[in-house]
Amino acid sequence: MIVGSDHRTPLGDVVNSQVKVAIVYYSATGSVAAIAQEMADAAEKLGAEVRLRKVAELAPRAVVEAKPEWKANAEATADIPEATADDLVWADAVIMGSPTRFGNIASQLKQFLDTLGGVWQQGLLADKVYSGFTSTGTLHGGQESTILALTHTFHHFGGIVVAPGYTHPHKFVDGNPYGTAHHDGGGTLAVDETTRESARVQAERVVKFARAISAAA
Ligand SMILES: Cc1cc2nc3c(=O)[nH]c(=O)nc-3n(C[C@H](O)[C@H](O)[C@H](O)COP(=O)(O)O)c2cc1C
Repeated sequence: MIVGSDHRTPLGDVVNSQVKVAIVYYSATGSVAAIAQEMADAAEKLGAEVRLRKVAELAPRAVVEAKPEWKANAEATADIPEATADDLVWADAVIMGSPTRFGNIASQLKQFLDTLGGVWQQGLLADKVYSGFTSTGTLHGGQESTILALTHTFHHFGGIVVAPGYTHPHKFVDGNPYGTAHHDGGGTLAVDETTRESARVQAERVVKFARAISAAA
């Protein structure tokens, strides 16, 4: 149902309706965190209400502190709240990000997903938009497999997977239709403008479909 000042453009977009977007991620050394922040900023600029959430760290503090980049990222993101099941229940759209771990998602994010059985069983994770992103150490390095691994869970939730595809000219630049993906060159390459534009394109598409689905519900 379209209410208030909402209206449809000739292309079928629903504008001016506020949707809730949860961006949930794990990041050890900061690349995924930077993409998550870019997506949060983009979604907010598009009028969405955003919850940016990191999942809990599982590695012992001594292990984190032994690696300067890991320690620095933990300190830089200390103020970002930890994700809870309620953040997903609350959201119209969920964007999840994880660094590649041997072509799969990080155990920290998997541990969070594995706490969601209760809300899943109540059907509270269904009928939402879901989308995924990642970062790797090497070019490609498991980028697509990691995002696809995330979508396994999205399907079990009864989610509506919104991938960027090649729906924007920038996707022919970044070349990944599955989602935003950075490669950090073994820790030497910061998230750059190409990846940031990918993040903005993906966030925009997620907000667009979250609005359309919310309006139709
Ligand atoms: C245990 C482990 C496994 C990894 N596996 C891969 C991999 O399969 N392919 C790859 O390109 N990078 C791999 N990496 C590198 C990270 O995915 C990469 O550095 C990523 O950008 C880190 O993201 P973050 O800065 O958000 O933590 C691995 C790193 C660790 C610690």
